[in-house]
Amino acid sequence: MTNALITPCQLGDLTLKNRVVMAPMTRNRSEDDGSPNELMRDYYRQRASAGLIVAEGTWPVAAGQAYNRQPGIETQAHIKGWRAVTDAVHQEGGKIVLQIMHAGRIGSHHIKGKDVAHVAPSAIAARGEVYTDSAGMQPFDAPTALSTEQVWQVVEEHRQAAINAKEAGFDGVELHCTSGYLPMQFLCSDSNQRTDEFGQSVEGRAKFAAECVRAMADVFGAGRVGLRMNPGNRFNDTKDAQPAQSHEALLHAVADLDLAYLHMMKAPTDKIDAFAMGKTAFKGPLIINDGFGVESAEQAVTTGLGDAVSFARHYVANPDFVERIESGAELAKFDRNTLYTPGAAGYTDYPVA
Ligand SMILES: Cc1cc2nc3c(=O)[nH]c(=O)nc-3n(C[C@H](O)[C@H](O)[C@H](O)COP(=O)(O)O)c2cc1C
Repeated sequence: MTNALITPCQLGDLTLKNRVVMAPMTRNRSEDDGSPNELMRDYYRQRASAGLIVAEGTWPVAAGQAYNRQPGIETQAHIKGWRAVTDAVHQEGGKIVLQIMHAGRIGSHHIKGKDVAHVAPSAIAARGEVYTDSAGMQPFDAPTALSTEQVWQVVEEHRQAAINAKEAGFDGVELHCTSGYLPMQFLCSDSNQRTDEFGQSVEGRAKFAAECVRAMADVFGAGRVGLRMNPGNRFNDTKDAQPAQSHEALLHAVADLDLAYLHMMKAPTDKIDAFAMGKTAFKGPLIINDGFGVESAEQAVTTGLGDAVSFARHYVANPDFVERIESGAELAKFDRNTLYTPGAAGYTDYPVA
């Protein structure tokens, strides 16, 4: 019998050949200026049998960069580099959307350069450190608070990122609203102490992410735009007094759009049933994630818990993950030490079964 994961699936305007989604993974292999290169092209091409690839978190503007060798979608060089990636995936019959990731207060001038802005909803630094190529581990820089006018400018930067992603040949875009980056900094009470329309209440805190999604949907059509969230996530010093309410407020704020999908991660706390929240507050197609194996994922789509399941870690060492599901071949294990290191080792050199 065919595995339920290997059946077609419709997410808005995106028709997937199977329900196996490659989750976004930062791998730090771009050129220093954020341009995707041939190595990245080969990596994504190798994984094109996924029903959908969500390409790694990518900065819309230099101020949004978090990591060295993290790609951008701001310049003509970025667009050209990504065009080679999307062409390669399409030639293999795959689909690929780009995850737009503005890191806000998560970052360092050792990575972005001294002259690049470091912004956040409020002037509150995140506690923690980031690895930098030039100076090793460094504390996150203290951010400056965006004015109301500047917040709208950042929304426009998300629109431009979507325009650039379209020019680069992507099938759609996804907003990264997890892991303590800018949209989640707005959403969560500890990092958002604003007194304007982008703060004060759960609805106010949800507004920035909702407006970014709307701007991206203006460009691609909502049926090609996804939203990723992880209510209760505490990564990167994220604290929210009302994580369920704030995430629900965001889902309500975009409910009228008919987005392609909600990419929902399991909540890290028993107090929140994120998948149930996705069903009641979002209603559209769900990609579910976090810790799934082949069997649990098959069960999840069979029982209707999600329309598709995304996998990150399995995709590191199994470029032919879909084929391995089909054949029952054993899954390979990945090497942690080469997740973020430059070069082909641990990136494009994992063999097919
Ligand atoms: C190396 C690595 C990089 C990641 N980078 C991103 C990212 O850029 N954007 C994102 O939303 N999640 C990122 N994640 C989280 C994954 O997309 C995924 O949610 C998580 O690994 C759980 O899924 P899994 O159990 O299938 O690995 C990353 C995870 C890993 C292991």
